[in-house]
Amino acid sequence: MSRSAHPAGPRHADVLPEGHYTGPPADLNALDPRVWARTVSREPEGAVTVGGLDVRALAEEHGTPAYILDEADFRARCRAWQEAFGAEADVYYAGKAFLSRAVVRWLDEEGMNLDVCSGGELATALSAGMPAERIALHGNNKSLAEIERAVETGVGRIVVDSFQEIERVAATARRLGRRQRVQIRVTVGVEAHTHEFIATAHEDQKFGLALADGVAAEAVRRTLHHDSLELTGIHSHIGSQIFDMAGFEVSARRVVKLLTEVWKEHGIELPEIDLGGGLGIAYTSEDDPREPHEIAKALGDIVARECASAGIAAPRLSVEPGRAIVGPTAFTLYEVGTIKSLEGLRTYVSVDGGMSDNIRTALYDAEYSVALVSRSSQAPPMLARVVGKHCESGDIVVRDAYLPADVAPGDLLAVPATGAYCRSMASNYNHVPRPPVVAVNSGTSRVIVRRETEEDLLRLDVG
Ligand code: LLP
Repeated sequence: MSRSAHPAGPRHADVLPEGHYTGPPADLNALDPRVWARTVSREPEGAVTVGGLDVRALAEEHGTPAYILDEADFRARCRAWQEAFGAEADVYYAGKAFLSRAVVRWLDEEGMNLDVCSGGELATALSAGMPAERIALHGNNKSLAEIERAVETGVGRIVVDSFQEIERVAATARRLGRRQRVQIRVTVGVEAHTHEFIATAHEDQKFGLALADGVAAEAVRRTLHHDSLELTGIHSHIGSQIFDMAGFEVSARRVVKLLTEVWKEHGIELPEIDLGGGLGIAYTSEDDPREPHEIAKALGDIVARECASAGIAAPRLSVEPGRAIVGPTAFTLYEVGTIKSLEGLRTYVSVDGGMSDNIRTALYDAEYSVALVSRSSQAPPMLARVVGKHCESGDIVVRDAYLPADVAPGDLLAVPATGAYCRSMASNYNHVPRPPVVAVNSGTSRVIVRRETEEDLLRLDVG
């Protein structure tokens, strides 16, 4: 594609109906380390490498689209979170962000705990050898089969989310002759500053038992009533992709208040509190996330202070980061297929994936960045929209992106920070097989989730 087909620079913003136009970055070849996995760099010759491997070789070997996951970065983030929280706290990785057996083994080796929220995630964890006592089971509507499997295999904690579930877990544990450790998921009444669909602690939504109207206190009474349950603590999760620590502080304060009430009413000091996950990551250079040690200090301080002023012993703290661990460790590698320059509007760059491998842009208006990674370019910036191959105009991967104006079919593009909630929310829309997850580490690549095939799709079609 000639440069003239892609005029340099953005068109007038007033003809562009929507989006955020912050202007092109100073250097389109630069890779912001906040957004890209740790071992990613651009070689002097122009192509990008990750884990010591050239993306062109990765595309050649594994095809595109593909999620490329930096194992060293994943492990380093697990360690950073654990070191930040120290021996007095527990870090549970939230498997919903992305889970596979290799990931479970890395977590196990790194001494992490694991939060699962379905029978499928539990089965994955157990099949990869995660010790059951280091697993927590979540969910607002766990099936009886899921509860039974969890109790039977001895998961360390079940986070109960309704009055019905207290009875179900109690009955299952009684029948199996177990005493199940449980936490109660409460709703603290915080409006977290994030997208409505991923905020979970305001009162009008499906999760948890409300602190405000005494429902949580009643759940404590009902749980304590059962000999087959051991109530170990209170759980709160306020939402996801949050940067502001204020919501966590309010949450911690309110949970400690409930602990104090439990102590006064029942004479029991509950030994644990879990403040959930939700810490934001950088999807673009505009985002400025907190480091784990800052988060650990803020949360640890507030819990210690609130407990001291309430005169109760500080409980053991746990957290459940998902996105903050796996999100930045992966990027999605795509090949450019077609390019359309719409006069007076923008240039549409179509890649070989789309909303089936990243639904977040369509679902949450999520913002991503993108880079040309198979080569560098000195061409001027061009305002582009990176779109997929699906039959919907909402099939947008990156809404507003500057790419070099000479981007052409066959080029490789990479969208960073796709480690969380992309493969785990991927679909087969339009019967498009889901991409593989390829782990890279120290010069080697390994498929940890293979590419789906048309045979895989047809195998389920038994009509
Ligand atoms: N703990 C609980 C109880 C949760 O519900 C979640 C996320 C986490 C921990 C992990 O949150 P994280 O640290 O990853 O923010 N699909 C959405 C995110 C949904 C999050 C659901 N719960 C997205 O793509 O943004």
